[in-house]
Amino acid sequence: MPDIDEDALIQRAQQAQARAYAPYSGYAVGAAVLTTDGRIFTGCNVENAVYPLGLCAERVAIFKAVSEGFRDFQAIAVVTRNGGSPCGSCRQVMHEFAPSMVVVIADETGRVHRRTTVADLLPDSFGASDLER
Ligand code: THU
Repeated sequence: MPDIDEDALIQRAQQAQARAYAPYSGYAVGAAVLTTDGRIFTGCNVENAVYPLGLCAERVAIFKAVSEGFRDFQAIAVVTRNGGSPCGSCRQVMHEFAPSMVVVIADETGRVHRRTTVADLLPDSFGASDLER
């Protein structure tokens, strides 16, 4: 990944994973999204006793960035204990802002399991242009 400090992004995702609130699933996730101007926003999954209210790490990170005025993303790192892949809802939210964003899927030791893009993770997607027809 040219111009992207992948190790630093993974490290920030690892730090976020340590803050996960996941008492129900026991599956801690950390994410770190990199804006095109070099800022990093992090997120962890935040669960709730009312299970459907929980939110994934990727969406926490992206919503934090968007709510602070940053919508242009170049990469996101996602860290779990086993290199799990982003869920469908998170893929859709990533696609809303940055279909060409690089997605680095790593485990909590920092080992990269997969480098891909949002477009590859969400082929034949629904997007804003579909609402114009
Ligand atoms: N989770 C994420 O944070 N990101 C994903 O992409 C997959 C799933 C969280 C949601 C829930 O808190 C736990 O992992 C188990 O599904």
